[in-house]
Amino acid sequence: MKFTQQEMKQLAEASQAAGREDLYAGIHKALRAVMAECLLAVGRADPTDPQDVTDAGARVCALMDLCVSHVHHENNFVHPAIEARTPGLSADVAHEHLGHLEQIARLRAAARQLDTLQGAALTSALHTLYLDLSLFVAENLRHMHVEETEHNAALWCAYTDDELRAIHGALVATIPPGEMMLVMRWMLPQMNAPERLAVLGGMRQEAPEPVFRAVLDVVQPHLSPRDWAKLSGGLGLPAVPGLVDAV
Ligand SMILES: [Fe+2]
Repeated sequence: MKFTQQEMKQLAEASQAAGREDLYAGIHKALRAVMAECLLAVGRADPTDPQDVTDAGARVCALMDLCVSHVHHENNFVHPAIEARTPGLSADVAHEHLGHLEQIARLRAAARQLDTLQGAALTSALHTLYLDLSLFVAENLRHMHVEETEHNAALWCAYTDDELRAIHGALVATIPPGEMMLVMRWMLPQMNAPERLAVLGGMRQEAPEPVFRAVLDVVQPHLSPRDWAKLSGGLGLPAVPGLVDAV
């Protein structure tokens, strides 16, 4: 079943108003942020500063790791759910994922090569990586829009919120702690205040207290004082930065 643009717009608006479970929204906010910051960092990297070059290469490789993991999460959990009740709908996006994995391999190789180059060759390679990464980011921005409209429309029509939460829970259970912390660092600061409070309020109920506090410690430096005040107030924590340990 395919949706028209108008049907997807209406369904998205109705689902937003109804507070439907959204499998894509949070992680895609994280990916948009980490991709954009990485691209800008590569653009700023000084080819005459070996530390800058090493850092830029490592940052690209870390982004590629996150992107590979994300593709696998969608392939292994979201697409099977879509195909189970809306056969054929995820085929185009699944095909795009294959292209993304090829792009990721090329970008990773280019990033790893930086430390082996010098002079004009390094300057040129760094700029080429910046341009190639910009196209990768652009393609992913377009791709994520398709997922958040077409795929979400299919999921909202075919599944209840409880079923969608079960799919999300099964996916999240496979994420190692280190990767989860990285996702939290990029996702939570980019959510709006009510979304952020909902995620952390849920985590406070389910996660061990040291884990909850570790997430707060990672996220707090990336929040504005205003956003931290909203979060700490919502969670009933001291609003003064640096008092997270007093939880
Ligand atoms: Fe995707």
